[in-house]
Amino acid sequence: MIPAAHTHPEREAMERSPAEQREHERRVVAEHYQHDVEIFSMVLDSRLAYATGVFVSPDEDLETAQARKFARIQAKLDIQPGERVLDVGCGWGSNLLYLAEHTQGEFFGITLSERQREEALRRARLAGVADRVHIDVKHIEDLALEPASFDVVLFSGSIVHMHNREEIHRTVARLLRPSGRLLISDCYYPAEHRGDRESTATDYIFVEALGYCRLLHLSEELAFIERAGLDICHVEDLTSSYALTLERWIDNVRKNRRRIEAISPGFSRLLQQYMTVAKLSFARRTALEYMILATRGRPRVESAWFPIVPPAHEKGAR
Ligand SMILES: C[S@@+](CC[C@H](N)C(=O)[O-])C[C@H]1O[C@@H](n2cnc3c(N)ncnc32)[C@H](O)[C@@H]1O
Repeated sequence: MIPAAHTHPEREAMERSPAEQREHERRVVAEHYQHDVEIFSMVLDSRLAYATGVFVSPDEDLETAQARKFARIQAKLDIQPGERVLDVGCGWGSNLLYLAEHTQGEFFGITLSERQREEALRRARLAGVADRVHIDVKHIEDLALEPASFDVVLFSGSIVHMHNREEIHRTVARLLRPSGRLLISDCYYPAEHRGDRESTATDYIFVEALGYCRLLHLSEELAFIERAGLDICHVEDLTSSYALTLERWIDNVRKNRRRIEAISPGFSRLLQQYMTVAKLSFARRTALEYMILATRGRPRVESAWFPIVPPAHEKGAR
């Protein structure tokens, strides 16, 4: 396993104590997500998924690709009535609410943003699932939960904001019950060094636009998960899907530039710039996107059952 060369934000993070780094993440990461939800409603799909969709053809729309991702996550997690699900970095509730509406689980979300929490809870009430949805504003490292208290832990587009990955995987492994599932959908660097990771463009995304990001190599993340005691069941490459997702988001920023600027001057430019750099990185595969599924002990759903291309009736399903 080749360890990823550390970028300048990571080197700074290593000079902080774990408590200082946690405070740093809490402050600088939350800032992006505290922007008005109306802005994100103009850019993202109707459930406000702020992570890649799953495209099976480049001419699909964003709504279809995100709907397929929700359905795929539901299929992989196979949540049974009464099972407890923790969504770490739940955003405005995209996956959390989809899963609450389509299963009979009990859902717990955490986010660093109070505004995201309010919006997710508002949507939970509208969807009639508020009695099974609980959301706190909390950093994952502040969770004090009983061991073996969850059946599923989900990170979609959120683990990249967390520096202290090895410890986080140990925490997750402790939280999971036997047959518990961990699902991650996020960005990685290829093990082979491609592109300039110390560029102004990288700093712009990792520091100025998103506060703090740490991209590992896939093999590093998988090793942390395995060493924490979980088994890796399935890994899929969603890199080209993320390039297409970002393309749709950029089109939406362009279309709504005037309205976004009226709410938050300068924010449409920030979104367009960071999304453009990210899109090019995924298109050139200087950054990669993976969905990882791991279990504590025997898997509940055999990965051989997963559909690679979903049946036509799933198209547009929400
Ligand atoms: C890109 S958004 C993804 C939102 C959502 N999972 C989705 O797929 O739509 C990242 C989320 O991670 C949350 N987050 C980042 N670092 C966190 C941490 N250390 N603890 C808890 N939540 C965190 C942010 O507040 C935000 O809600």
